[in-house]
Amino acid sequence: MQLEELEGKKALITGSKHGIGRGIAVLLAKYGVDVGINDIEYDQAARDTVNMVRNEGRNVSWHLADITKSSEIDRLFNEFIEEHGRIDIMINNAVDARLKPFLEITEDDWDFGVDIALKSYFLCSQRAAREMVGQGTGGRIVSISSVHAFRTWPTDLVYGVCKAAIIRMHKSMAVDLKGHNINCNSIAPGYIDSRILPPEQEHLRGDITLVTKSHGNYKKAINWIPTQRIGVPEDIARAVVFLCSSLGDYVNGQCIPVDGGFLAGGTPDSH
Ligand SMILES: NC(=O)c1ccc[n+]([C@@H]2O[C@H](COP(=O)([O-])OP(=O)(O)OC[C@H]3O[C@@H](n4cnc5c(N)ncnc54)[C@H](O)[C@@H]3O)[C@@H](O)[C@H]2O)c1
Repeated sequence: MQLEELEGKKALITGSKHGIGRGIAVLLAKYGVDVGINDIEYDQAARDTVNMVRNEGRNVSWHLADITKSSEIDRLFNEFIEEHGRIDIMINNAVDARLKPFLEITEDDWDFGVDIALKSYFLCSQRAAREMVGQGTGGRIVSISSVHAFRTWPTDLVYGVCKAAIIRMHKSMAVDLKGHNINCNSIAPGYIDSRILPPEQEHLRGDITLVTKSHGNYKKAINWIPTQRIGVPEDIARAVVFLCSSLGDYVNGQCIPVDGGFLAGGTPDSH
């Protein structure tokens, strides 16, 4: 696959040992990008993702780091820059969530949710932008928001607030980075099948007849999605490629929903 301007670019992706982050890592590598994989856990899925990127013929680095801690973010970026020499693309993707109704959310729940789903996005974006400004050759920052930024589900208060704040934060980042050729955008995925699957079962992704009970929402959700299928990580990765290549040169400070038309359909009658 060719988009010449992406060839040899260096991208760091947080929380990318599997799921949407893996999809982004692999598609960027197919377009010639060297990739740093970060996650808080190192397991078989992480090893698989590193191998999948390497199999595309690109340089890949692994970075174990808890990105809720600024000291770990500093170490992560130092390691990444030492390995790749520079950073051109920053993808904020990591997440964790405690889903609770409003009256039960504790201060600790709030801090936990905001640290991973908003503070870490701010700190990683800021460090990446400082590197890019220093390099003087521009860059791209893309953060993964959610349809939860636009509508509400029971128990999603902290998660949804952070996802909405990401969109607003990227507008300020775009404005404050005026003149540096650093485009800052977010993507709001809809229902995406991000189950952990071994590489040999990747072809089953998106097949909701095989989704287990814990992902039961997918089966209901299909009724609300005009495109009539659940998304796969590559759907999000394609939007990332658009935003990080010359195709997206004039898109800045925006959020692109990638949801099969879910938001267009208004509010579903139940969760
Ligand atoms: N899957 C969906 O349907 C969907 C829909 C809308 C938005 N999103 C967003 O897309 C992104 C990826 O979603 P996903 O479904 O692939 O998620 P996931 O839970 O499968 O992956 C998130 C990754 O982040 C890592 N992580 C958690 N805490 C971390 C920390 N402190 N430091 C570093 N890594 C950490 C996890 O270990 C995990 O590998 C998230 O931002 C999510 O909110 C997903």
